[in-house]
Amino acid sequence: MARTFPEGFRWGTATAAHQVEGNNVNNDWWDWEQRPDTVCVEPSGDACDHYHRYPDDIRLLKELGFNSYRFSIEWSRIEPEEGQFSVAALEHYRRMCAACLEHGIDATVTFHHFTTPRWATTDDGWAGAKIVDRFTRFCEVATGHLGDLITRACTINEPNVVGYIGYQVGVFPPGIIDRELWLASIDNFVAAHRRAYEAIKAGPGDFPVGLTLSMSDYQAMPADDPAAVEMRDTVRRYAEDVYLEACGGDDFIGVQTYSRTQIGPEGNLPPEEGVEVLGMGYEYWPEALAATIRRAWEVTDHVPVIVTENGIGTDDDEQRVAYVTAALEGVLDCLADGIDVRGYTYWSCLDNFEWAFGYGPRFGIVEVDRATQQRVVKPSGQWLGRIARANRFPPD
Ligand code: BGC
Repeated sequence: MARTFPEGFRWGTATAAHQVEGNNVNNDWWDWEQRPDTVCVEPSGDACDHYHRYPDDIRLLKELGFNSYRFSIEWSRIEPEEGQFSVAALEHYRRMCAACLEHGIDATVTFHHFTTPRWATTDDGWAGAKIVDRFTRFCEVATGHLGDLITRACTINEPNVVGYIGYQVGVFPPGIIDRELWLASIDNFVAAHRRAYEAIKAGPGDFPVGLTLSMSDYQAMPADDPAAVEMRDTVRRYAEDVYLEACGGDDFIGVQTYSRTQIGPEGNLPPEEGVEVLGMGYEYWPEALAATIRRAWEVTDHVPVIVTENGIGTDDDEQRVAYVTAALEGVLDCLADGIDVRGYTYWSCLDNFEWAFGYGPRFGIVEVDRATQQRVVKPSGQWLGRIARANRFPPD
């Protein structure tokens, strides 16, 4: 039997500027991709040329049936040097917001999605004292120019990933493995989110603002082993709780979930035998979405949840449908339990630049031929669009 989503539930897809725009030459990632000493498999190049093709891409989303588009504005284009703001770049993003609104699509704008202007990486970047003021000023100026056209804003995308992978794993810039710098980045991200929240709320415009967090269904293994539980709680504290606790009272919390993480007394465990491992190296585990929605709701003391990312990188489009089916069943269960979930955003609209993995993993519901930039909607895109239009599952 079909189950219905609440009236006004938002159905979207998401992208991030650096992953789709092309030629974002002035940020830390561009530099990182070119370096021979990183694990990046290829540079981002023209990406999906979304910087020029956004009118067609947004129209396509409308035709498919979506009513929200989450995209990011590129700080390094808007403020190419410290304190120098490009009105031309701001006007570009005004046109993008306007294109969404013209099609009846929410302009869900992310102010920071992984990339930082080169100039702002000086003075220890996100681990340094200056970044909070720098980011806040950017938010003030960008909101001043775009606020009247924004429907919803995400301050920072997955600060927990930027900090951990940048300062503990070394696969994201700056790739400096240093515990003190990592801990400093956590404090700065939390402070930057709080200041950005205030700056964006000051207007113009009056719209919901929140943080988006990378979440995993952290499971202690064995579940009844106190040492495993303690290790799980410690890992999760730095990965998620410090951020969730800083978001109490926000307008929404953006939950972004792809898989689960099993933790034993010594730390993270490898994928469990018998569970499929995806190209990204983690398990196929769509049930993680419901588990993380529940946890975000609980730890934030009932801040409304928007699923701002959920998806799968796979060449098998039927597997994508199966994954989203299980994930949406979980969302419906959460709703039935009284959790205030306000939207589901699939990652991603387009097959795009998957950071250090390059163009290998395909998360899109729309295929992109990077030689011709031709777009072809996958069956999963038509399917998800039908669900969006019907606002129920299954749709027919
Ligand atoms: C990020 C995206 C990324 C996606 C799939 C999220 O962590 O926000 O930029 O492409 O996961 O890996």
